[in-house]
Amino acid sequence: MSNCQGFNRRAFFGSVAAAGIGGAALLASESSSSAEDAKNEPSKSFTASFPLLQNVSETSASIAWALNCPATGWVEWGTTPALGKIARNSEFGLNPFETDFISARINGLAPNTKYYYRTATCSFTYKTAYDKTASEPQYSDIYSFETSGSKGDETSFAVMNDTHNTLPTIRGHLKRVKELNSDLLFWNGDLCSDYMNPEHVKENIANPNDEPYAAERPLIFVPGNHDRRGKWVRNLKNCLTTWRQDDPAFYELGYNYAFRKGPVAFVVLDTGEDKPDWHPAWTQMANYEPYRELQAAWLAKALERPEIKSAPYLIALCHIPLYSPNPKANPGNILDQFATIQWPARQMWGPLFEKYGVQLLIAAHLHSFGYSEPTADRPWAQIVGGGPAYDNAFLIHGKANKDNLTLVCEKISDQKVAGTWTYKPRV
Ligand SMILES: [Fe+2]
Repeated sequence: MSNCQGFNRRAFFGSVAAAGIGGAALLASESSSSAEDAKNEPSKSFTASFPLLQNVSETSASIAWALNCPATGWVEWGTTPALGKIARNSEFGLNPFETDFISARINGLAPNTKYYYRTATCSFTYKTAYDKTASEPQYSDIYSFETSGSKGDETSFAVMNDTHNTLPTIRGHLKRVKELNSDLLFWNGDLCSDYMNPEHVKENIANPNDEPYAAERPLIFVPGNHDRRGKWVRNLKNCLTTWRQDDPAFYELGYNYAFRKGPVAFVVLDTGEDKPDWHPAWTQMANYEPYRELQAAWLAKALERPEIKSAPYLIALCHIPLYSPNPKANPGNILDQFATIQWPARQMWGPLFEKYGVQLLIAAHLHSFGYSEPTADRPWAQIVGGGPAYDNAFLIHGKANKDNLTLVCEKISDQKVAGTWTYKPRV
């Protein structure tokens, strides 16, 4: 009897690969010998999403995927479609056993290099500690990606935000991103309004459009204030995997990362919740003030990295804006209402933006498109994306080469352009 009966809500994600490609034959025999009574039913999908490629740095990458049933799994990867290597998120020698999302991090990669991969998923049942069954693996299709790095004259990116689990809007964004064929996709916060169960995340984030939207185009999660609400939210990192920090001082900063893609350096920051930590609404669940402070220390070091410092273009992203044209804008550190800007973060991060030449901050949160030109005392521009309603959703996208970085903001409903801006290389 399949471990997955009753879970097969969606079609199988990817094809069951023929045995013999790369390490597949070895892995299949390894798995089948581990459970004599395991049966593979290719018509039953163990997976509930295509792979989500994330955290693509110069030397590593993570792949997560949603499950239809309790399972174990791994990623097979290599520099050719023959694959040949295996990555598993083992902990202290024990391979994963998950019910909703599974992931594997590939390490030891080289910058600006193309890699191929596929996922392998085995349904797995524990009856007792010793009586357990594993199915034959189901494989995804083989996908490819390129690691981050300074080489390359051109890069492109797209940014969607504040989708608040509005599927038509999410699908509209992803349709346009596919047309643009952007190299990178940032999802700038408030992906969902709350996180009370994994099914919500599977439907809205892992598999919103029944397409492999982030199997080859890295998905870069920028946390929003809503992305920490609900009893399940602490498990979100199983789907939206965290960046690995090399410096032990910053191990807890899972969603901060600076990376270079061709001529552009991107810096991702997390503004946290939209009210002060001591606000009664948080019922002692908020500790964002020291978290933002730690990010300031991290940012100072990240912006010193040679590949970031030397980038022709430097873009920062965070969810809550750091600037408002309204001098009475809610600064996010008072009891009244909620933040329009994250003023405490601005005070810590802003001087670093100025010192290191951040040219553009891409923010969200206001559900209303806006663009603020740089000024003498704020030499970085700020763009804010739209909201969750399909007619008010704006996709921000950019293309950079050695001469210019061109930024466009357009409505997803009719592709009407709200604005186009051009930036010159800063170095
Ligand atoms: Fe928000």
